[in-house]
Amino acid sequence: MIELKAERILSRHKFPQDRPILVTCALPYANGPCHIAHLRTYVPGDVFVRYLRKLGQEVVFVCGSDTHGTPITVNAEALGITPRELASRYHRHYQEVFRRLNIIFDNYGSTDDPRNHRRTQQIVRTLMERGYVYPKEIEQPYCPRCRRFLPDRYVRGTCPYCGAEARGDECDQGCGRHLEPGELLNPRCAICGTAAEMRRTKHYFLRLSAFEDFLREYLQGLEGTSIARNYALQWVEKGLRDWCITRNIEWGVKFPGEEDLVLYVWVDAPIGYLSSTEEWAEKTGGDWRLFWKGRGRIIHFIGGDIVYHHCIFWPAMLRGSGYNLPWAVVASGMVRVEGKIFSKSRGYVIWVEEDYLEEGLDPDALRYYILSYTGHTKDLDFSWRAYQEKVNKELVGTLGNFLYRVLLFAHRNFGGIPEGLKDDEVKRTIEETIEEILLGLDEYEFKKIADSVLALSAFGNRYFQSHTPWKTLKEDREACSATIYNCLWIARALAVLMSPLMPGKAQELWEQLGEEGKVEEALVAEALSPPMAGRRLGRPRPLFKRASDEEIAPLIERVRERISKAQGS
Ligand code: 2FM
Ligand code: ZN
Repeated sequence: MIELKAERILSRHKFPQDRPILVTCALPYANGPCHIAHLRTYVPGDVFVRYLRKLGQEVVFVCGSDTHGTPITVNAEALGITPRELASRYHRHYQEVFRRLNIIFDNYGSTDDPRNHRRTQQIVRTLMERGYVYPKEIEQPYCPRCRRFLPDRYVRGTCPYCGAEARGDECDQGCGRHLEPGELLNPRCAICGTAAEMRRTKHYFLRLSAFEDFLREYLQGLEGTSIARNYALQWVEKGLRDWCITRNIEWGVKFPGEEDLVLYVWVDAPIGYLSSTEEWAEKTGGDWRLFWKGRGRIIHFIGGDIVYHHCIFWPAMLRGSGYNLPWAVVASGMVRVEGKIFSKSRGYVIWVEEDYLEEGLDPDALRYYILSYTGHTKDLDFSWRAYQEKVNKELVGTLGNFLYRVLLFAHRNFGGIPEGLKDDEVKRTIEETIEEILLGLDEYEFKKIADSVLALSAFGNRYFQSHTPWKTLKEDREACSATIYNCLWIARALAVLMSPLMPGKAQELWEQLGEEGKVEEALVAEALSPPMAGRRLGRPRPLFKRASDEEIAPLIERVRERISKAQGS
């Protein structure tokens, strides 16, 4: 019976198992350390992949470092090292941070990998052959003092749309629009401050205007979060201008046939998804064509600030060069730190390694915070006090409390898992939790998933409390045994169902329950099977640790100091 019900539940969700899925996370710029805002892409992406696998879905999960463009060269120049040195340093950093946070990609590539250079040039050549890329002379800002052109982050000025201070390719402090070369008003050199001159030079353009009708139709059927789809549709309705895809710098993928031009970083960056899949295929014997040319589906996890690039530029490039299009784009909301908009320059930042991992804090608690704080498309605020409260109330007070209480009771009074009959109420509650999880996946609402797991543990606490096993232990040992058996069933279900959210803690719980192997390999339907009666249990350890004032206060102080230092400078 249980198996039938599980099948019914599982067949209701939206990712059919005969379509392999490629999940990607936006490639971080390898120009600085991982911060809290990054995690809004990587944690939900990793959780999504882990759940799909638990549902028996074939999934490949790729990412990599975004190593080109002025984000890298400006920082490398400031440090007096080469762009490649900077990119390799941070490439290793991201690999390490992701590993420590249990964000596990099947391949973590790099846009500076020869595969990416080759694939990018192949795509650009195809676009040229098909008439989608053409040359044109344009006016470009040039610094007479530094004696160079000023692409993207080398130039600052005024956004022509909203009047905010902006950089060359993006209104980063105002309306967030992508800006084309030469559009910025009052341009000046970002390095030396000199007013820029305008000089004529030849660049190449992608004929974006030719893709308007295609994009309008494509976007209407695009899956993922509605903010991605709706923003992109609005932009198409306003009309698309052709897109300048070359830059006058040395670092990057060479434009085919033009030694002095490289491609704009937003050309070769998303192609990094493809080349990372190729690298995965080479390493594993897998087939990258399945996703990029065949029946597989592509799902991109991104931050809300790069919707334009993923829903306009990228589908146009893929369509024009004959590759599969993204099936879904899942864009997150923005991040705040202590109530204010995330900003590295203003000090509103939490560095994942320095401020969190190096402090010995629990990686799974951070994953839980990111997932459960708010809906995926809403603004997430990272505040140390809110973190402390979540850890203490939800992880320690509800989830951890239930698990420790039950395991300790079973160990003390039965030495292991007692006999019992399955309670229908427990079965129904686990089924409902699975349904909620599936709904959460279908809607890309990870909070719904985290909340439903927590609610299952709250149910466990109520079940334990209302069945008073400490009383029945003396009066009716059989009833007591049944209560604990069912509570351990809830605990086992929790291990299976929370494993994508908090993989480390779920494994610890699995072992405390005397289970063998890896809980990450247990399918969702396993949650419907109770544990084996008679198995011995060791003395449990509390799964979560309280976040104390002594631990949190200095971290709050650190952010304060960072903010005041940034304001003073
Ligand atoms: O905005 C960023 O941080 C970019 N490095 C994201 C690139 S995503 C993809 F297209 F590669
Ligand atoms: Zn603007």
